[in-house]
Amino acid sequence: MPGKIIDLRSDTVTLPTPAMRKAMYEAELGDDNSGEDPSVNKLQEMSAERMGKEAGLLVTSGTQGNLVGILASTQHGEEIIVGDEAHCYLYEVGGAAAIGGLSFRPVPNHRGHLQPDEVAAAIRPDNIHFPRTSLLCLENTHNRGSGAVLTPAETKALCDVAHTNGLKVHLDGARIFNAATALGIPANRLTAGVDSVTFCFSKGLSCPVGSIICGSQEFITRSRKVRKMLGGGMRQAGIIAACGIVALNEMVDRLAEDHANAKILAQGLANIPGVITDPALAETNIVFFDVPDISPADLIAKCTGMGVRFQNTFGTRYRLVTHYGIERADIEAALSVISQAVAPLNAPRA
Ligand SMILES: Cc1ncc(COP(=O)(O)O)c(C=O)c1O
Repeated sequence: MPGKIIDLRSDTVTLPTPAMRKAMYEAELGDDNSGEDPSVNKLQEMSAERMGKEAGLLVTSGTQGNLVGILASTQHGEEIIVGDEAHCYLYEVGGAAAIGGLSFRPVPNHRGHLQPDEVAAAIRPDNIHFPRTSLLCLENTHNRGSGAVLTPAETKALCDVAHTNGLKVHLDGARIFNAATALGIPANRLTAGVDSVTFCFSKGLSCPVGSIICGSQEFITRSRKVRKMLGGGMRQAGIIAACGIVALNEMVDRLAEDHANAKILAQGLANIPGVITDPALAETNIVFFDVPDISPADLIAKCTGMGVRFQNTFGTRYRLVTHYGIERADIEAALSVISQAVAPLNAPRA
């Protein structure tokens, strides 16, 4: 039986740090529904400052943050532009359509790098037949884009197209600190042009729960009401916020370790015969690879049996995510396991 399970399925499997558990125990609490939880208020202020926005609002999850952001920026019946591989388009239960009465207008994703001219072409002109296009959604880093990073210049070019045409911009920055770390810049340089941004505490920052949405004071006032409507108004949520405060103080700088581990992992995978991956795409903490000649059920079962877990995303494609709790030695162990699992492919034929 393997010892430690090396769980590379997602950075959402991270457990709270000892400092977070202590902070939860000691957190000052109040009723956040009335804005009276000091820990929540502190986290919201700290987050807004990090994002360069006027205000912040704690939400239960990235999905809720994106939905609140989208609903607070649009009117029922409008259209929103999304990358065709965006998380809020593919993996959030179509909430914007189901709850907001919005239609999605997908544009080609290019690994998260939407093209300003393609966005411009998707914006509806004023015409009696068309819904109004009111929002552009961006994602940084891009989950399906192998953790791809949007630079400040790319973000600005996309925001300029949107704003010139009267659209707002919402950024799904679930992993915005991974992007900032990869570029070696403060996160507020990546959020400067967007109207709203969501980021998650419960992914690479290791918190057990929680995300936040930041924007102008007026936008956050509206968002607070939308959050309430969605059932996201919480009470003594300082229990959650306490971990977020630790995360902002202690867990952002260490993301560089996850990125270094992802690079070693990607390079190691590229050296295994039968495995297809481009190590240059491992910009942050997400690595995708393909093993075309083995069934996904077999590969996952073999690796899981040897103590290494990862996701089969589609077809013969797999995703590995590095995070807090995964050390350099775990990367070497994972490479050895994957190498053994695909070894029959590489055995000489009789
Ligand atoms: C880019 C991105 N946005 C949003 C989310 C949704 O976050 P949550 O799982 O907290 O709802 C995820 C989750 O993996 C994500 O990767």
